[in-house]
Amino acid sequence: MSGLRTVRVPLGERSYDVLVGHGARSELASLLPTTARRAAVVTQPGIPLEIDPGIPFDVFQIGTGEDHKHLGTIESLCRSFARVGLTRNDVVIGVGGGMVTDVAGFAASVWHRGVPVVHVATTLLGMVDAAIGGKTGVNLPGGSGDGGKNLVGAFWQPSGVVCDLDALATLPPRERRCGNGEMAKYHFLTGDDLLAMDEVERIARCVEIKADVVASDEREGGRRALLNYGHTLGHALEIETGHEIAHGEAVAVGLVYAAHLARVLGRIDDARVEQHYAVVHGAYELDTRLPDGVDHTRLLSLMAKDKKALTSLTFVLDGPAGVEVVPDVAAEAVLEALAAMAAHG
Ligand code: GLY
Repeated sequence: MSGLRTVRVPLGERSYDVLVGHGARSELASLLPTTARRAAVVTQPGIPLEIDPGIPFDVFQIGTGEDHKHLGTIESLCRSFARVGLTRNDVVIGVGGGMVTDVAGFAASVWHRGVPVVHVATTLLGMVDAAIGGKTGVNLPGGSGDGGKNLVGAFWQPSGVVCDLDALATLPPRERRCGNGEMAKYHFLTGDDLLAMDEVERIARCVEIKADVVASDEREGGRRALLNYGHTLGHALEIETGHEIAHGEAVAVGLVYAAHLARVLGRIDDARVEQHYAVVHGAYELDTRLPDGVDHTRLLSLMAKDKKALTSLTFVLDGPAGVEVVPDVAAEAVLEALAAMAAHG
């Protein structure tokens, strides 16, 4: 098909292709394992993309919104797989945004101790981030110290990913902003001027950047943590606002916060902080303000529980050697940076 870009995620025997372009869904069948006799399509109501896997398939809808991203949804999917007799040779296909591909991927990772999964990403955020790299999982509901976002999951690489840009024609502006938040992150990881590229090239380039990081550190022993630039405050804001602020929007605020924190720690200068505002707010047109009324001490305690924080407050921060993981950040610096950000015009 002309105009289609193929990006390889090189992971040895678990390598796979990501197809990027308008109409890419027509190539879906070519990504399915040859053993598959039937497919379980996991999706949500209102997903604007019809697919044809070329083999018999059943469709299973999951609920929309973070409230449905829990273990109960995985159990219910597995019961559905049992009802239709999905075998170890068959395939799960996740069709939707990041929530669908996280849930479909996790269900595939545990069904019969692991069956192949192929993702068809239908949101910008899914295409540039969530569907690529094999992170799957669900939240543990509960706000009293025994819950959290994506706490239960598995690394389970897909056998292939489709990014069909036709799905973006009807993408709500808020969902587009969420994708732009993750794209702004790639800007700081590579310095690439992604906005100068056409949309197919831009998405394919984001996939290439992510593929390169994942190939070098599949299970986040080191470099992959850089993909969490902007996410430490971002995740805290999502939790603190009860998901009123969406993931990509929270990452946008988190990127600028990370710059303030790097400034407080003497890693970057004021001009570099302003560059963060220029990119995130100026170029990607994202809101960079802390939501009204958020309690800084609560944010601090949420950030201390971040998955990166193995022994101490840990952030991904810009500095003289570029973006890197910085452990042992003092609580006072975290609060000072929040205050500096709140005071920034
Ligand atoms: N979304 C960050 C990662 O896949 O590692």
